[in-house]
Amino acid sequence: MAGIYIHIPFCRHKCSYCDFVSFPDKIDMAEAYMACLYKELKIRGDQLKDYTFDTVYFGGGTPSYIPPKFILGAMNQIKKCFNLAKKVEVTLELNPGTIGESKVETYKRAGINRFSIGLQTAIDEQLEDLGRIHNVRDYVYATNLLKGENFSTDVMIGLKEQTKEDVAKTIELAHRCGSKHISVYALTPEDGTPIYSDYLNGELPDEDEVAEMYDFAKNLLEEKGYCRYEVSNFAVPGYEGKHNLNYWQRGEYIGVGISASSFIKGKRFTNTFDLDEYMKCIISGHEAVITCEKVDLPTAKFEFIMLGLRTKYGVSLKAYEEKFGVSIVKDFEKALRESVDYLNLEGDILTIKEEYLYVQNSVLMPFMEDAQRMQVAEE
Ligand SMILES: C[S@@+](CC[C@H](N)C(=O)[O-])C[C@H]1O[C@@H](n2cnc3c(N)ncnc32)[C@H](O)[C@@H]1O
Ligand code: SF4
Repeated sequence: MAGIYIHIPFCRHKCSYCDFVSFPDKIDMAEAYMACLYKELKIRGDQLKDYTFDTVYFGGGTPSYIPPKFILGAMNQIKKCFNLAKKVEVTLELNPGTIGESKVETYKRAGINRFSIGLQTAIDEQLEDLGRIHNVRDYVYATNLLKGENFSTDVMIGLKEQTKEDVAKTIELAHRCGSKHISVYALTPEDGTPIYSDYLNGELPDEDEVAEMYDFAKNLLEEKGYCRYEVSNFAVPGYEGKHNLNYWQRGEYIGVGISASSFIKGKRFTNTFDLDEYMKCIISGHEAVITCEKVDLPTAKFEFIMLGLRTKYGVSLKAYEEKFGVSIVKDFEKALRESVDYLNLEGDILTIKEEYLYVQNSVLMPFMEDAQRMQVAEE
């Protein structure tokens, strides 16, 4: 599997918690930016003629904020420059405050066959407090426009004054409106965002409260027929997102646009976060990469385990051995011994026990230590 990620860095307003690369005051640059993006697509397409891509993902920022003709243009360019699989999954992130009938028509014409809608919460006062540009009615309107389409809904937990009833209302609304996939993200108070002061002031729920809310959300989602296939992702069976699954399976992807990262041909690289610099590089026919690293073997092994353990599919011991030519037990003997109480081994598949999935970082620590030991031994 391989994916294409496209970053659209424009938003109508900056939400109080968000530190993604997205500009609330630069929409007049959209046309010039997209011209560069088409050019970068061509550069990458020429380098990756031997690949077939199974997924395309328009993320941001708010891809649904820019005029839809640019999404159509980007898709035309992608079809021209890359080999796409027959059943390619094409997702577009959408903010309910930026959508209308004709936009949806253009997206469908462009080949978008999956939408990811940022609802966050079904409580209007909380939406306002987060600096969201929409209310609950806008979400219902957006989902009506998407009737019969495959769409996912983003929900946030750990918000100021959020109760379990609020979370239930949010999940129930998304379910009622026909969302086949729901992502539940715990609010990360990023340093430098306005919400960080709420965090410092102790106004946000603490870790234990958020963990309890997560369990509550998970149980409700499962009751409603959504299965957890990754820590934050729940889907009606058959509606799992392929694009993100590819990340967790350590599949390859190419990222295009400002701040986009890639993992392809054994290298990880990231584009510049500076809009002017991005455009200057691309206009002059250069890549806009600012960091590039070859992934060393111990890191690759650790990533394979860490990413696999995030999902219900876990890590196949056989796949590990086929990929790295050595058994996982030999490489991670100490970590497996230390984490034995948190892990399940069924046949060939290693998974984290259900109840520890949410606190997996501590489970993964011994694996990281073993990988670091391998790194030292290699030096
Ligand atoms: C790029 S946005 C989705 C599309 C659109 N920009 C929007 O917000 O409606 C991706 C998602 O990341 C989540 N997110 C962003 N910042 C976050 C944070 N600091 N903590 C937790 N989730 C966050 C939100 O749920 C958001 O919907
Ligand atoms: S609309 Fe989405 S990308 Fe834009 S600021 Fe809000 S959360 Fe971030």
